[in-house]
Amino acid sequence: MSDPAIRIRGLVKRFEGVAAVDGVDLEVRAGECFGILGPNGAGKTTTIEILEGLKQPTAGAVELFGLPWRGHERELRSRIGIALQETELYDKLSVRETVALFRSFYPRRLEVDDALAQVDLIEKKAAWVEKLSGGQKQRLAIACALVCDPELFFLDEPTTGLDPAARRSLWEIIGKLRARGRTIVLTTHYMEEAEKLCDRIAILQKGKVIALGTPRELIARLGGDEIIEVGSDPAVAAEVFAALPGVAACLPDAGGFRLSVRGIHETLPRVIDALRQNGARPSRLATRTATLDDVFVKLTGTSIGAEEAKAAEAAQAVAQSAGARVKSARRDKGEATR
Ligand SMILES: Nc1ncnc2c1ncn2[C@@H]1O[C@H](COP(=O)(O)OP(=O)(O)OP(=O)(O)O)[C@@H](O)[C@H]1O
Ligand SMILES: [Mg+2]
Repeated sequence: MSDPAIRIRGLVKRFEGVAAVDGVDLEVRAGECFGILGPNGAGKTTTIEILEGLKQPTAGAVELFGLPWRGHERELRSRIGIALQETELYDKLSVRETVALFRSFYPRRLEVDDALAQVDLIEKKAAWVEKLSGGQKQRLAIACALVCDPELFFLDEPTTGLDPAARRSLWEIIGKLRARGRTIVLTTHYMEEAEKLCDRIAILQKGKVIALGTPRELIARLGGDEIIEVGSDPAVAAEVFAALPGVAACLPDAGGFRLSVRGIHETLPRVIDALRQNGARPSRLATRTATLDDVFVKLTGTSIGAEEAKAAEAAQAVAQSAGARVKSARRDKGEATR
């Protein structure tokens, strides 16, 4: 049997005594799209950057195509394509010049126009990088990764910050790479994206793999493939729902619970009866198919969306307090106009 595209054994990376990656073992098969999911700070970028040969592990080993980085740097560089979480492109180059520059680093390569066509940027090829939108810059970063016609792609949050249409267009690009037999490792915070694109997924938390499998396998581990979202007034205890026949898991949700259930046609009336028996009225009642986000909630106790919202709030608070500091410094220097 051929070597896996990636083999990771006992991988550890510590920064100042803190383990960003804490004993990861994984294999990525040739030709699969492999997703690494996890909240902010889980160790996704650190893991990917070690695989890309950009960071040294503290312990453990990684191999790409059966080869370690040491002694095979030239070969491995020519066989992989990288789109970093944040790619700094040179503003004063055109789109075409940017891809041509990346192309010049590699022995095996596509034509510039071919790479631009794959990411739908042909009509922007004369534009300066600084004039591109965020989504166009992301696509350009991917064109730079694919111009060396690599066998293995690393895409670190390729769709973060993009609008829904730009995200879908990147999904198409990734789908086409996969259809051409390329191996793809991507990180994302979007569960829907992982479910659509990835053959298999590893969920990382605090540097450890807490779940591994196909999206379907992970969802099946919930014990029920349908979800009832329920909130009530007054609140009803989790145990009440958890004890109902057909309820496989009762997960916390904003202002209520997500019940992972089997046989929804029988379980839903039981949930309504339980509310009535506890003198509560439903403030929210909805049913849907289970998703990876429910798996994430079951494993971590919180939705990855909630993690994101918390991180965004914290970032906003930091930005606001930095803004306030700048304003007050200006006032001190008499720069404030009014
Ligand atoms: N150069 C560094 N020095 C010190 N600590 C670091 C460094 N790089 C990463 N870390 C820490 O390692 C942990 C993992 O970071 P990493 O960037 O791998 O997370 P991530 O899963 O990619 O998160 P995100 O979703 O926010 O991109 C974090 O706690 C981070 O603060
Ligand atoms: Mg990251």
